[in-house]
Amino acid sequence: MSLKIKIQQTKKMDKKSVQQGFAMDIVKQGQTPFYYYDLDVLRATLSAINRQIQGWPFTVHYAVKANGNRRILSEICNHGLGADLVSGGEVEAALEAGFKAEDMTFSGVGKTDWEIRLALEHGVGCFNVESIPELEVINQLAGEMSAIAPIAIRVNPDIDAHTHKYITTGTAANKFGIGIEVLDQVVKHAIELPHIHLRGLHFHIGSQITQMQPFVMLCDTINELQARYERQGIAFEMINVGGGLGIDYNSPDAHPLPDMEHYFGTYKEHLNIGHNQHIHFELGRSIVGQCGSLITRVVFVKENRDKKFIIVDAGMTDLIRPALYEAHHEIQNLTAPTSGQEEPYDVVGPVCESSDVFAHDRMLPATHRGDLLAIRSAGAYGESMASTYNMRSLPESVFTE
Ligand code: LLP
Repeated sequence: MSLKIKIQQTKKMDKKSVQQGFAMDIVKQGQTPFYYYDLDVLRATLSAINRQIQGWPFTVHYAVKANGNRRILSEICNHGLGADLVSGGEVEAALEAGFKAEDMTFSGVGKTDWEIRLALEHGVGCFNVESIPELEVINQLAGEMSAIAPIAIRVNPDIDAHTHKYITTGTAANKFGIGIEVLDQVVKHAIELPHIHLRGLHFHIGSQITQMQPFVMLCDTINELQARYERQGIAFEMINVGGGLGIDYNSPDAHPLPDMEHYFGTYKEHLNIGHNQHIHFELGRSIVGQCGSLITRVVFVKENRDKKFIIVDAGMTDLIRPALYEAHHEIQNLTAPTSGQEEPYDVVGPVCESSDVFAHDRMLPATHRGDLLAIRSAGAYGESMASTYNMRSLPESVFTE
C-alpha cells in the first residue's frame, strides 16, 4: 500500500496550519497510522551541524539506528555526514544510500563474523571495538582476508549521564566498552596485533542527554587519558566522543532544533585536541528526532467510571518509546477546533498489552472518533523500532515534498 500525498507547504504557513492542512488531505486518504517527516526541519538541523563543525577537525557520523528510512538516509548523506552503524543490515543500508565506507564507524558489542567480514570487505573507516575477544576475532578475520582493520577501542568511562536507565551506556554496570583499569593492556595488545591498526579511542555515555555537564566530564576523562598515553609515547590519530545529545520532547515547536552551538561549543572549549587529531561524533536522536511525527486516527473514545480513553489506530508497535521507557511525547489533535476546553484523556493503542499507552491523563480538546492526532518528536527511535507484533503492518512514511 503506497501513500501518495502531496503536502502544500509555503514559507508563510506556520507549523499548525501546515499540520492542519496536511491533516485534511489525510482525512481524504484515510490511511493511518504513518510517520510524517518534515524535511525542512531535518535540513535545518543538518545545516546547523555543518555550520558548527566548519573549520574544526570534526566529523559527524549519523547513528543510523535512530532512523534508517531510505529517504532520510539520502538527505543526511547529501549533507556530507558519515554513518555510524551497529549491524550488517545497517552497513548495507548506508552503502546503498551512498555513504562512503571510509566515513563509516561500526559499533556494537556483538558483531558476528559475517558482519565483520562485510565491513572489512567494503573498507569501513573504523570498528569501535568493545572487548578483547572481539579485538582478536577482528584481527583473525582481517588476517584471513589479508586486510588491516582500522579500530578504536571503546572505553567505558564510568560516567553517569543522568538519563533513563535503559539508555545510560557509560557506567561500569553497563555491558558496553572496556573498563579504564584494563585499558593499558588492551591498547598494548591492539598495537601488537598484526592485522589491527589502532586509530584511537571511542566513548559513548548515553542518550537523551540535555545538560552539558556529562559531556564536560567526558572531555575531562579523555584529556586525562590522552595525557597518560602521550607520556607513554602513544598519540591517537582520532577520538570518537559518541553521541547522546537530547531533544526537547516537551516543546517541539519552541525548540525544533537542538542547540548545536552549545553542544559543539562544549567540546571546542573542554576537549584538548591533539596535533593533527580528528574528533568524531555519532549523533542520532538530535538529528532526526524533531522532524518526525506519528499520525494516527482516533478509532473510539471510550469512557470508564472515572477515565476517558482515546483509542487510536497506532500502537506500541509503531512507536514503542512510551511503553518501553515511559517516554513523553507531545500529542496534538489536528482536527479538533483549537479554541475549545481541554480535558484529561488516556491515549492508548489497540495492541493487547497494558503498556500500549501513549499518554496518561493528557489534556486535549474534546476528541471524537475519526479525529487525527500527531504524536510529536517521533523521528528518532520511532519507525526504526517498529515491529509487527499482533501481525500489524509496519507504519508507512510520508514526507513534506
Ligand atoms: N553511538 C553509540 C555507540 C550508541 O550506542 C548510540 C545510541 C549512539 C551513538 C546514538 O545516540 P543518540 O545521539 O541517538 O543519543 N531507543 C532509545 C535510544 C537508544 C540509544 C542507543 N544508542 C530511545 O528511544 O530513547
